[in-house]
Amino acid sequence: MSDTNSIDALEAEFTAAIAAAPDLSALEDLRVSALGKKGRVSGMMRGLGKMTAEERQEMGPRLNGLKTSLNEAIAARRKVLEDAALNAQLQSEALDMTRPVRLGPLETGRVHPVSQVMEELAAIFADMGFSVAEGPDIEDDHHNFEALNIPANHPARQMMDTFYLPPRADGTTMVLRTHTSPVQIRTMLSQQPPIRIIAPGRTYRSDSDQTHTPMFHQVEGLVIDTETHMGHLKGCLEDFCKAFFEVDTVKMRFRPSHFPFTEPSAEVDIGCARVGNELRIGEGDDWLEILGCGMVHPQVLRNVGYDPDVYQGFAFGVGIDRIAMLKYGMPDLRAFFDGDLRWMKHYGFKCLDVPTLAGGLSS
Ligand code: PHE
Repeated sequence: MSDTNSIDALEAEFTAAIAAAPDLSALEDLRVSALGKKGRVSGMMRGLGKMTAEERQEMGPRLNGLKTSLNEAIAARRKVLEDAALNAQLQSEALDMTRPVRLGPLETGRVHPVSQVMEELAAIFADMGFSVAEGPDIEDDHHNFEALNIPANHPARQMMDTFYLPPRADGTTMVLRTHTSPVQIRTMLSQQPPIRIIAPGRTYRSDSDQTHTPMFHQVEGLVIDTETHMGHLKGCLEDFCKAFFEVDTVKMRFRPSHFPFTEPSAEVDIGCARVGNELRIGEGDDWLEILGCGMVHPQVLRNVGYDPDVYQGFAFGVGIDRIAMLKYGMPDLRAFFDGDLRWMKHYGFKCLDVPTLAGGLSS
């Protein structure tokens, strides 16, 4: 039945439903149920065929008018819903460009001062033609002592406060290396002169107070050639100190000392001045001991099969933690190994600031 009343009712019903359609798919369902092929308006249109000419004349335009008005209502509602959907999407994807950038791990991570100083040492000595050598932290008696001219019962063994591991099945006892000097032996056994190496690494002694930790770091240096003398040693160490402390001049003092594996032996002090809280390296009337060194003992050369009448060389051992404290003004050694992130944030180095001689060691 299609009379004008039912058309009005249908129009009212759909207009209200369209205006209330909650989303685009509900709106599409309404469109199909009104104007789709099997929709109610289309059904009424089909009814026109059975009408008389007069009826058709009245109902035709009415139905067309209904179609038009529903289409318009649907288009208007669609626009409202589409705008709302777009706004919601924009809202959810909005980025606040005024917020601070969150730093990635490369920015927030820090390189420990000990690692930084090891990098600096490698850069400085590479420039002088040295390569980096390594040896194990757990050493045998031969490399740590015997081959370095420190026989059993030598008083130097007591001085070193050695950590011994439990004896092995074959009766031998391994030690935690007390210095990096065993790397001298390993290098001379595995290479032939000329030799120029540094060997940075961990070392261990049973000792603990404000300036000593049971684990600490040393860098060993070794040069072996046919015409090497104390002058080379002094020049090498002076160049190293100037480069490392980034100063133009550095006062140095070589004090006679004793190590079983060097002859003659010396300990090296550098000049410094205490200005208020600050320690200035290279100038002033105070002295700070920073390393031990000497000419490699002929017996050590013989122990590795070198002829001391052909080859000589020098060696040195520097406390890395010590020179790191001096250079970067860190007062307490124990803090190095506390793993405190606040300390690392303060004293650590950015990981992409790799030390180079050209670009600066410590930027
Ligand atoms: N190995 C010595 C020490 O730990 C330092 C040193 C190295 C001295 C090389 C002379 C030559 O005290």
